[in-house]
Amino acid sequence: MALTAFFRDMQSLHYIVSLAMPELLGRSRVKIWDAGCATGEEPFSLAMLFCEHLGYFGFSNIVIHATDHEESEFPQFRESIAEGVFPELVLKTTPRPDLIRKYSRPAARPGYIQVVEEIRSKVVFQKHDLLSYREVGTDFSLVVCKNVLLHFQPLQQSEVVRMFHRALAPQGFLALDQAHRPPPGTEHLWTNIAEGGFLYRKVESG
Ligand SMILES: C[S@@+](CC[C@H](N)C(=O)[O-])C[C@H]1O[C@@H](n2cnc3c(N)ncnc32)[C@H](O)[C@@H]1O
Repeated sequence: MALTAFFRDMQSLHYIVSLAMPELLGRSRVKIWDAGCATGEEPFSLAMLFCEHLGYFGFSNIVIHATDHEESEFPQFRESIAEGVFPELVLKTTPRPDLIRKYSRPAARPGYIQVVEEIRSKVVFQKHDLLSYREVGTDFSLVVCKNVLLHFQPLQQSEVVRMFHRALAPQGFLALDQAHRPPPGTEHLWTNIAEGGFLYRKVESG
């Protein structure tokens, strides 16, 4: 099972909240791509944060496209993950149990919680192989790709990051994990806007 968690890498989420969200406020449509979303904890965490910070009208304009390629490892990828059911033990290991409590209810299965419909309805799960180098759409305001690039060879990393550049709207944001910077040959496509990496802004390639 892929390693992931609710509210993983709080530093990176902090930059999304403090630097990207204020700009997304008031837009009529905000598309987010969570690339390599594993079992859903990351896109649901993002949706909870957006709901918390954007208010009702801002949040109603959000769609998070959550993609991963491992259908074989996660049978019924779209259906089961989209149900948003997790062991209630996640409350003990997350840095934000308050948000998970606020945006979940006891599930029908004892010992499990279910993410509320308000949050689930904003996350669209889709099978997608990043190494196809075909973006799942265009005009994204934010692409989040954390703890995924490490699976790829250097040239593959560059092609994947170029694909994110194509998928983003002008001035769009790219969130990476701390271990990764835009790979060689793609540095000119981004401005780093957060200390220690984490968050980049699209520069037009000209
Ligand atoms: C360590 S998990 C990271 C999950 C989440 N982003 C996080 O940071 O918690 C890495 C994910 O990358 C996905 N992945 C690896 N290669 C991929 C590919 N070619 N296309 C799409 N997803 C891929 C894996 O299936 C796995 O779910």
